[in-house]
Amino acid sequence: MMEWTDRHCRYFLRQLSHHCLLYTEMVTTSALLHADPGRLLQFDPAEHPVALQLGGSQPDELAECARLGEKHGYDEINLNLGCPSDRVQSGHFGACLMAEPERVAACVTAMTDAVAVPVSVKTRIGVDSQDSYEHLYQFVDRLAQAGCGTFIVHARKAILKGLSPRENRSIPPLRYEYVYRLKQDLPELEIILNGGVTSLDEAEAQLAHVDGVMMGREAYHNPYLLADVDGRIFNDSRALPTRAGIVQQMLPYIVRELQAGCELKHITRHMLGLFQGIPGARAWRRQLSHYGPGAGAGTEVILAALEAVA
Ligand SMILES: Cc1cc2nc3c(=O)[nH]c(=O)nc-3n(C[C@H](O)[C@H](O)[C@H](O)COP(=O)(O)O)c2cc1C
Repeated sequence: MMEWTDRHCRYFLRQLSHHCLLYTEMVTTSALLHADPGRLLQFDPAEHPVALQLGGSQPDELAECARLGEKHGYDEINLNLGCPSDRVQSGHFGACLMAEPERVAACVTAMTDAVAVPVSVKTRIGVDSQDSYEHLYQFVDRLAQAGCGTFIVHARKAILKGLSPRENRSIPPLRYEYVYRLKQDLPELEIILNGGVTSLDEAEAQLAHVDGVMMGREAYHNPYLLADVDGRIFNDSRALPTRAGIVQQMLPYIVRELQAGCELKHITRHMLGLFQGIPGARAWRRQLSHYGPGAGAGTEVILAALEAVA
């Protein structure tokens, strides 16, 4: 998620679950090919398994960026076909590509030919008036023929004119039945459902219909829900980490990053929701928001916030 799932956020989320697959923000091919790829692709080995999401529409550029991603150690390369923002539309990628299946198929083939790691696609269920199930089926089937075996489907269509990206995440209705049907009709594909899932109970119920669930906003705002994922979804019987334990686990990372020149606020902003829903949540959030951005702020801010929670 843009501006959210940067490397600090992913490192933090990884402390909560060893097994869930984490995704980068969307990185555009033009940024990657014209900026310093080392900086854009940098991540900590502890983040594995982690997928790199690319935005682009030129097969050769996407192939090159997929190669860069694989070389940097990403476990999966994902193509964004769901973003409806004006900026992304004017760059001619994201959700508007759902109207161009042949172009996307060429992109997918170029990417899968370029790398050995899996290539996945993140898509909507349709765009604008192209919103029938048949259209979605044909689109996914075409990309499967082009070499893609995993589809993450945000179960809303995108409306390209007149809605902001934020509105496009809430106004078009969720149609989970499209995603379930896709799995029934194309059982050999890995179909991951996304959109509006806010608890592990809901996620588990969805797993009766599909192969996986992607959680976005809820996982960011209420990250501690991920602490149950290993036990409930991946049958890993390790003891549940406590919230305070997660904070302690973050400290060596934070010290390292501060020494490398990072400012505390860039890390703590992703940790604000850790105590969501329990007493002390406000005190935690207030301490971090107030003292985190201070010049030279260090781990003492975090320890003080932890004390304020107790
Ligand atoms: C701030 C923000 C940034 C997002 N950026 C991306 C992105 O870079 N790539 C992407 O595929 N989806 C992006 N999304 C969409 C989410 O991945 C997800 O599809 C959407 O929020 C619906 O899932 P949810 O209801 O679990 O949040 C973004 C969402 C938010 C809130």
